[in-house]
Amino acid sequence: MDMNVGKTVFKSERDDFTLLMGDALKLLGDFPDGSVDMVFADPPYFLSNGGITCRSGRQARVDKGGWDRSEGVEADFRFQAAWLSQCRRILKPNGTIWVSGTRHNIFSVGFAMQRLGYKLLNDIVWFKKNPPPNLSCRYFTHATETVLWAARSEKSRHCFNYTLMKKANLGKQMQSLWTILPPRSSEKLFGRHPTQKPIELLERIVLSSTQPGDLVLDPFSGSGTTGIAAARHGRRYIGIELNPDYLELSAQRYMAETHTHVTAEVADIERPAVATGLEPLPLYLTPQ
Ligand SMILES: C[S@@+](CC[C@H](N)C(=O)[O-])C[C@H]1O[C@@H](n2cnc3c(N)ncnc32)[C@H](O)[C@@H]1O
Repeated sequence: MDMNVGKTVFKSERDDFTLLMGDALKLLGDFPDGSVDMVFADPPYFLSNGGITCRSGRQARVDKGGWDRSEGVEADFRFQAAWLSQCRRILKPNGTIWVSGTRHNIFSVGFAMQRLGYKLLNDIVWFKKNPPPNLSCRYFTHATETVLWAARSEKSRHCFNYTLMKKANLGKQMQSLWTILPPRSSEKLFGRHPTQKPIELLERIVLSSTQPGDLVLDPFSGSGTTGIAAARHGRRYIGIELNPDYLELSAQRYMAETHTHVTAEVADIERPAVATGLEPLPLYLTPQ
């Protein structure tokens, strides 16, 4: 597709990985109507507001960056509604959107989706097995994130690769509780992003809701995890990101990925499982 949008800072030779630098709120406005098959968005959670967390066993301030500071409930809602509205316009009639978040932003995102006419399909709970302890001892340990999955409208006939997901879950229907470890060190070889998502999470999302050749968009691309998952499985990707350091990191990840990995989703899923019978089989294990 000829996308004359924003400033392209990286385009792969195969035309399957494009990075745009700029503000998603502005750039999304330049995309044509109905041009994207699937959106994954990991928007600001608006949680960098002076709280404390535990990093490497030590107390640290929660500060992901200026982009993650809350401007108050109303302004945060307007922000979420604005980009979600653009994404709905850009999605094809049968397209779907995934949005990750925590209690800080997910209710605002969900309400905006309902108001805009999306059809909510699932609220996936991503369970992190070994979360950092809660140092204040005044709350339960935060061990989950939510990923909302929605179709463009009530009328959408959305893509769900049910059989593939069932096969990946050892022949049982895959549930909405996903136990996935945080990104491994092998996923951070080219640098660190403060909120990088595990590739396994994005692979499951891409494989469950798209077909090879589909166009996937991530308006808050960060270190490009969505694009790596898309490229790994023969989907096309466009990522939007404000920060040039993260764009460079994404391009490096893509180049390493396309030189060292083969696209072979079925082979990966069919490999013999060392299964407990309790955990879903990872769709793809990054070689260590
Ligand atoms: C939660 S992180 C995404 C992390 C990503 N999923 C990954 O695995 O690396 C959100 C990203 O959105 C970027 N960002 C924040 N506001 C933005 C905006 N208005 N337009 C484009 N990017 C934005 C931030 O720089 C940050 O890298």
